[in-house]
Amino acid sequence: MRCLAQLLLLLVATTISLTTTAHAWDWLPATDNNRTLDTTFVVKAAPPSSYTGPILTTAQQQGLNATDFYLYNYITTGYNATKIQRAVIMLHGLGRDAWSYFDQTHVALLNATSRKERTTHQSRLRADEVVIMAPIFLNQDDPGCYPVDANKQPNSTALVWNDSDWAEGADSIYPSTVNDAQGIPFAAPGVSSFEALDMAVGRFANKTLFPNLNTIIVAGHSLGAQMVQRYALIGAVPSGTVPVHFVVANPGSYAYLTEWRPRPYDKCADTFNDWKFGLNAYSQSYLSDFITDSLDTTNDVESVVQRYRRRVVSYLFGLADHGKGDTRCEARAQGTTHLGRGRNFVKHLTDMDGGFPAAHTVNYIPNVSHDGLGMFTSQAGLERLFFINLNGTETPTAVGDDDQSAANWQQAKKSAQHSASSAATVRARMVGVGVVAVVVAMLLV
Ligand SMILES: *[C@@H]1O[C@H](CO)[C@@H](O)[C@H](O)[C@H]1NC(C)=O
Ligand SMILES: *[C@@H]1O[C@H](CO)[C@@H](O)[C@H](O)[C@H]1NC(C)=O
Ligand SMILES: *[C@@H]1O[C@H](CO)[C@@H](O)[C@H](O)[C@H]1NC(C)=O
Ligand SMILES: *[C@@H]1O[C@H](CO)[C@@H](O)[C@H](O)[C@H]1NC(C)=O
Ligand SMILES: *[C@@H]1O[C@H](CO)[C@@H](O)[C@H](O)[C@H]1NC(C)=O
Ligand SMILES: *[C@@H]1O[C@H](CO)[C@@H](O)[C@H](O)[C@H]1NC(C)=O
Ligand SMILES: *[C@@H]1O[C@H](CO)[C@@H](O)[C@H](O)[C@H]1NC(C)=O
Ligand SMILES: *[C@@H]1O[C@H](CO)[C@@H](O)[C@H](O)[C@H]1NC(C)=O
Ligand SMILES: *[C@@H]1O[C@H](CO)[C@@H](O)[C@H](O)[C@H]1NC(C)=O
Repeated sequence: MRCLAQLLLLLVATTISLTTTAHAWDWLPATDNNRTLDTTFVVKAAPPSSYTGPILTTAQQQGLNATDFYLYNYITTGYNATKIQRAVIMLHGLGRDAWSYFDQTHVALLNATSRKERTTHQSRLRADEVVIMAPIFLNQDDPGCYPVDANKQPNSTALVWNDSDWAEGADSIYPSTVNDAQGIPFAAPGVSSFEALDMAVGRFANKTLFPNLNTIIVAGHSLGAQMVQRYALIGAVPSGTVPVHFVVANPGSYAYLTEWRPRPYDKCADTFNDWKFGLNAYSQSYLSDFITDSLDTTNDVESVVQRYRRRVVSYLFGLADHGKGDTRCEARAQGTTHLGRGRNFVKHLTDMDGGFPAAHTVNYIPNVSHDGLGMFTSQAGLERLFFINLNGTETPTAVGDDDQSAANWQQAKKSAQHSASSAATVRARMVGVGVVAVVVAMLLV
């Protein structure tokens, strides 16, 4: 009897932990001989493309320009940048346990390096040719992981997001203030988690830093996979010279590309297609002008939907992943289990004009449930993370400078400005430096 009660409690606890925030951390595992905790990776505040906050004074803009925001992450210990050919950016799930995702990826890498070429008996790749980065999207439940004062209030410029909002590109909530050029604090504009991801991509795409790098993989499992899918859909992905592959393993929901849904949504008829479940009511500041314009059919701009179809996206589904995950109406409209939602999303893509995108692939992984390690050490997982573009001859598709939709949008903006120069509106923009700012500025011209 008592046992049963305990079992029930455990079941209830498990159910709750799946639907609310599962973990809170008060410290981060330190560096070990394979991974290094990096608290110095700088993200500059890039201009939100439709900034609606108070107009910043010059002193405030200068203060913002001078501020380094930090995206904490785990990175391969002691890598030699000259040797690196491939970067795997692995995104954690709901639990924000980036160290564990780093370790899973490292195990998968070791497995991949143990595979020999049949003819030459040579290893297909070496571990020192790959760098793994596992960013940490901290939230307000994690004080101690980021520096806090005696009242547990953040007192550094480490980036911290609200709950799980990082997975959909939301702006950071901490640091909440930044000092202006005179040292006077003011309300800091947030930094989108997608800007932070852009910065990570831009770092590896930088030939000065990584002269031999030829492939960037942005991968995630579960909520991390949700982030990858949404980033692949709307991200700037500043990597004009290096191909970027997106690997989406067992996400709990998707941003759909149209209003079609496989299941009824009577109880959320007004919200089923809102961001993050669809492209309606896009609510983030990240590239919001670009996204709005590209979804508006009166603009002569290739849509984010078409761009998504040209990006290189791999979906991996565990055939035993029958977990229900997100049970909200908007998620249930996409299917009732992780696996079911995966199949339905494939149907969604297949039923669109043009059919299933030529640049996308799907693999169903037998016997694997909601288990990142199982997914990434499967044959298909290893292929997608480590073996794709092994000879480095692939050219980038629909990313960075090669992003045709961004170029078209820029062109459309220019001609719109010519024809309506008298109606020019002045908008306050905070301009950061670095890759993100360069790319965003390019998009904002
Ligand atoms: C680091 O990786 C090596 C294999 O390269 C492994 O033997 C070792 O146990 C790992 N260290 C830790 C702390 O995980
Ligand atoms: C902030 O930095 C950007 C990019 O370097 C620069 O264009 C802008 O003038 C700077 N703003 C201020 C107020 O210093
Ligand atoms: C890094 O790798 C390059 C190319 O293999 C090599 O020339 C260089 O000495 C290495 N640097 C270090 C610090 O090991
Ligand atoms: C790699 O994974 C395969 C399949 O799971 C397994 O059979 C093999 O033992 C692994 N090899 C190493 C070196 O981990
Ligand atoms: C944050 O507060 C803690 C505790 O008072 C203090 O030790 C630490 O130096 C502070 N850090 C910064 C950057 O002010
Ligand atoms: C933080 O997230 C919670 C739940 O996701 C939401 O209710 C709340 O409005 C968010 N707060 C902010 C400041 O965005
Ligand atoms: C799944 O696992 C079971 C038990 O380990 C095994 O008997 C079966 O062959 C596996 N199925 C597949 C498709 O790998
Ligand atoms: C590189 O690999 C691809 C795919 O495996 C292959 O089609 C291509 O011919 C290879 N290119 C070279 C130069 O080896
Ligand atoms: C690439 O890295 C170098 C060295 O850190 C830096 O000077 C340069 O600005 C970077 N390029 C871009 C486009 O960010």
